[in-house]
Amino acid sequence: MEEERLVTSTINQTETEIENVLRPKSMDGYVGQDKVKDNLAVSIAASKMRADALDHVLLYGPAGLGKTTLAHIIANEMGTQLKVTSGPAIERAGDLAAILTNLNERDVLFIDEIHRLNHNVEEILYPAMEDFTLDFIIGKGPSAKNVQLPLPKFTLIGATTKAGMLSSPLRDRFGLICRLETYSVKELAEIVSRSAEKLGVEIEPKAAEEVAKRSRGTPRIANRLLRRVRDYAMVKGHEVILHSDADGALRMLEIDALGLDAIDVKLLESMVDKFGGGPCGLDTLAATINEDSNTIEDVYEPYLLQLGFIARTPRGRVLLKKGYEHIGRKMPEGKIEQYSMFEGNDENK
Ligand SMILES: Nc1ncnc2c1ncn2[C@@H]1O[C@H](COP(=O)(O)OP(=O)(O)O)[C@@H](O)[C@H]1O
Ligand SMILES: [Mg+2]
Repeated sequence: MEEERLVTSTINQTETEIENVLRPKSMDGYVGQDKVKDNLAVSIAASKMRADALDHVLLYGPAGLGKTTLAHIIANEMGTQLKVTSGPAIERAGDLAAILTNLNERDVLFIDEIHRLNHNVEEILYPAMEDFTLDFIIGKGPSAKNVQLPLPKFTLIGATTKAGMLSSPLRDRFGLICRLETYSVKELAEIVSRSAEKLGVEIEPKAAEEVAKRSRGTPRIANRLLRRVRDYAMVKGHEVILHSDADGALRMLEIDALGLDAIDVKLLESMVDKFGGGPCGLDTLAATINEDSNTIEDVYEPYLLQLGFIARTPRGRVLLKKGYEHIGRKMPEGKIEQYSMFEGNDENK
C-alpha cells in the first residue's frame, strides 16, 4: 500500500536510481538548510586547513529532507571517499571492525539509520570514534587478551529519523549535531526547478510553485510529484510544464492543495464520522482505515500534527479546528473549548 503512495516521505524501491540523478553534488546545489550549511562550511574549511579529518557529524530529521545527500556532499567537499552502510546492515561487531580497518585517513563513513545499530556493534564504535582505536578481546577465560589496533582518522556521519532513540554515549561522541528542517515553498520550488533541468524539461515558475506547495515540505516528495507532473505535461503534448499541468496532474492524483492525499482525508473524516472528533486510540483508528498503527504513527500523523490538524492527547488522538475546516466540517463549540490548548502544539519538534 505504502509503495503506491505518492506523498510518503520514505523512499520507494524503484526510486534509488532517479534520486541519485537528482541529488545535488555540492553545497551550492543544496537548497535551504542555511544554518546547517553554514556550520558545516566552517568546520569543513577549518579541518581542511589543518589537514585533519572533520569532526563526527550527526544528521537528524524526518525522511526525505536530504540527510543522505548531505553526507555525499560533505565527503565531496572534504575531497575524500565515502563509504556507505546502515545500522541494520551491520550485524556483528566483526562487520564493523572490517569496515573501519579498510578506511583511509580522513575518509567518511556514513551510517544511515544509526539508531538501529545493535548494542555490540555500538560498543566497538565508541573507542573508534573517540580515540581512533579498535578495541577487542582475543581468546576466552583467563588467557583472554585485550588488543588495541590503531585506526585511520576518519569521520563518522550518522543519520537518523529518530534522534531520541540514540543512546546518549553515542550521541555525545558527535562533534557536530545538525537537525534538518522541513523546507519552505520557495525552497521547494527552487529544488523542483533544478530537478526539472536535470531531467531535461522546462517548467513554468508557477508550476514549480504548485508542486512545491503540495510536497509537505519534503524534497523527496517534490521530486516525485515533479516526475508525475512531467509525464502529464508530456502526454498533453506540452514542451514546457505549465501551471495547468501541475494542477491537473495533482488533481488527478488526488493530492490536495496542502499535499494531503485520499488516505489522509479518509483518516480525518473517519475521526469525525466514527469517533466524533476523538479522542480515539491509535489502534482503533488504524483499524477503521485498514492500516497498521505504526504506519499511521510514522507516515501519516507527522504531517497532520505539523499542520495542527490533529493532536495527541493523553486520552488519544483528537481532531482540531483546522482539521475539521480542511475537510469542510464544523467543530462543535464544546470541543473547540476543550481542545484549543492543543493548537499550535508542534509535536514533531
Ligand atoms: N537541500 C536539497 N536540495 C536539493 N535537493 C534535495 C535537497 N535535499 C534533498 N534533496 C533531494 O531529495 C531526495 C531525497 O533526499 P535524501 O538525501 O535521500 O533524504 P534522506 O536521506 O534525508 O531521506 C534526493 O534525491 C535529493 O535529490
Ligand atoms: Mg537517506
